[in-house]
Amino acid sequence: MTIYQEDSIEDLEKFEIELLLQGLYAWCGYDFRNYAFNSLRRRIWHRVHSERLSSITGLLEKILHDPACLKRLIADFSINVTEMFRDPSFFLSFRENIVPLLRTYPSIRIWHAGCSTGEEVYSMAMLLHEEGLYEKTKIYATDMNADVLKIAKAGLFPLGNMRKYTNNYLAAGGRKAFSDYYSVTNNGVKFNSFLSKNVVFAQHNLVTDRSFNEFQVILCRNVLIYFNKALQEKVHSLFYESLCMFGILGLGDKETIKYTQKADCYEAISQSEKLYKKVN
Ligand SMILES: C[S@@+](CC[C@H](N)C(=O)[O-])C[C@H]1O[C@@H](n2cnc3c(N)ncnc32)[C@H](O)[C@@H]1O
Repeated sequence: MTIYQEDSIEDLEKFEIELLLQGLYAWCGYDFRNYAFNSLRRRIWHRVHSERLSSITGLLEKILHDPACLKRLIADFSINVTEMFRDPSFFLSFRENIVPLLRTYPSIRIWHAGCSTGEEVYSMAMLLHEEGLYEKTKIYATDMNADVLKIAKAGLFPLGNMRKYTNNYLAAGGRKAFSDYYSVTNNGVKFNSFLSKNVVFAQHNLVTDRSFNEFQVILCRNVLIYFNKALQEKVHSLFYESLCMFGILGLGDKETIKYTQKADCYEAISQSEKLYKKVN
């Protein structure tokens, strides 16, 4: 038997990654087996080096015996980068093209899937408030990561981000003074509690959990980009089942419904802003 062939090193790495992901799934139910491989691989090596280990198998052993290390690895896989009114043109298009449709409903349910620390959710609450729709809306803000949801619930964000968020808000068609929505505290900026009064923050994993309601709008932005094609298809089926007819799906800048099995079920409201309407 030849043990060290040139290309078997790559095979071995792939095998170790598969073992790690299988182990993680079997041990604690987190299923990253269908996340995009290259991004996962980078994060795994980052964790191997940060823990001063020399192999991926060493990391598997450590996560099984050290719950704090397990938590750190899961945090590495949950990329939480977000901001208020991220891609302001998306929110501008939502205001101009989706709000008129929402006015026709007696009540509105919106699902923010993969909401991270909640900046996107507070942005939507402000927009709906300014359009007079917030009172009849219930927002379900979910993420697989319980720690980011705690931050989202608290509505407390770093003061240093406010200049950027103010610019985003204005570019997104904001109609008030952005600073009217928050007060500055010793711990950061606290957003007004009325913005979260119609929001339910809850843990939900897009890979392992099912649909839990029917929605007029589902926003899942900058999440599917971390999934492989098979998992993207599975999550698109979940969204399709969870949207009412003529419901709206909003994706991230680098994501699209095109080339998926559900492509024909949607009509683009704005292809550039990744806003789609379910039509069959
Ligand atoms: C980059 S953030 C996007 C936040 C926000 N939607 C935005 O566009 O700014 C990605 C979020 O997806 C969440 N996520 C990743 N995999 C998930 C899964 N399987 N189920 C639910 N949330 C997931 C991560 O925890 C993270 O908070």
